Amino acid sequence: MINLHEPIFDKDDEDYVLEALRSSWVSTGGPFVDKFEKDFADFVGSKHAVSICNGTIGLQLSIEALKHRFRVLNNFDIILPSLTFIATANAVVHAGGSPHFIDTDENSLQFSIENFKKYILNNYEYRFEQKYWINKVTFNRLLAFIPVHIMGWSAAESYLLKGISEEFNLTILEDAAEALGTYNLDETHIGNESLAAIFSFNGNKILTTGGGGMITTNDFEFAKHLKHLSTTAKIDNFRFVHDEIGYNFRLVNLLAALGCSQLKKLKSRLVRKKEIFDLYSNYLNSPFLNLYKQQNCHSNYWLNCVIFKDFNLREKALTILIENKIQARPLWTPCHLQPAYKVENNLLLKYTEDIWNRTLSLPSSPKILNEDVKFISDLILLSIIGDK
Ligand SMILES: Cc1ncc(COP(=O)(O)O)c(C=O)c1O
Repeated sequence: MINLHEPIFDKDDEDYVLEALRSSWVSTGGPFVDKFEKDFADFVGSKHAVSICNGTIGLQLSIEALKHRFRVLNNFDIILPSLTFIATANAVVHAGGSPHFIDTDENSLQFSIENFKKYILNNYEYRFEQKYWINKVTFNRLLAFIPVHIMGWSAAESYLLKGISEEFNLTILEDAAEALGTYNLDETHIGNESLAAIFSFNGNKILTTGGGGMITTNDFEFAKHLKHLSTTAKIDNFRFVHDEIGYNFRLVNLLAALGCSQLKKLKSRLVRKKEIFDLYSNYLNSPFLNLYKQQNCHSNYWLNCVIFKDFNLREKALTILIENKIQARPLWTPCHLQPAYKVENNLLLKYTEDIWNRTLSLPSSPKILNEDVKFISDLILLSIIGDK
């Protein structure tokens, strides 16, 4: 079996985890949490990093902190792309809000700025006195926009996201779950021009702690509140006094130890990821498909994707790959078509649906063998010839 994305652990990872185990600081306290947060902030170039137990929770917690900042209870909206893992939308609902889905650009995995602007102008009215947008039908306040950096490619360059935020006076939280190691063209790491960016350390990510996540922000008060909320909002460690209804959302020291050791190897892992992309790019030469790429960033090349000319070609390739025990995968079903959300959103998002139907994610583990990349590519090309 060639898997879609496998983690790599070495002796160094084992040593770090053992050190945490032997110290008996496996849970709430311990030095690795602080070190991981500091090292991670340094890597991303943000002022603060707050570790959490996974990326979904990071999104939810950021929305909770935003509600607190703007004194919003429930009855709020958040705009996000439909083409994302369902966790992005679920986090909005878990925090008490309503997700509103927008389209991608044509032939793109990323949200459409055009569609975002159209959506906001058609569906919301700006209240100049209060300085926020109100849904014309439900009167919900529009609390934020969550762009998602799909597959490790930038949703939009940071300066563009900042521009959207300023033009619409709207907070942006970036779902960067898949985009650790993705840089803007000016070499700054993505995620630094919005209020916060949320990263995932799930087992299939470029850096893993088994499960885990990080929220980065340059806003001191926001970081402080995130930490407070994620650690049960405790104000007295001895008498256990809590000033808010907080959460137990923190990353534990045992896993933070793994995060520290994994982070040390991230740079070299990014080099290998680029090599894998280049190999696919070299082998997958056909007028019937494209290896997905964007010009607006330096990707971390998390999961390589092929976009086929049509759905049938995609399905043929998928079948032949699965027959050969290769774990290729279609994109997630877009959120607006999910049974969990469809009832409320009878939407047609034509570019999202089009690219979803034609795309296949390919095995992209850093430890994949070069000859396996060639084998996978040959099978894909063979499936096309067989179809013609
Ligand atoms: C785009 C996106 N958002 C959010 C998440 C949620 O992260 P986690 O699995 O750590 O909860 C993931 C992935 O797992 C993801 O790919």
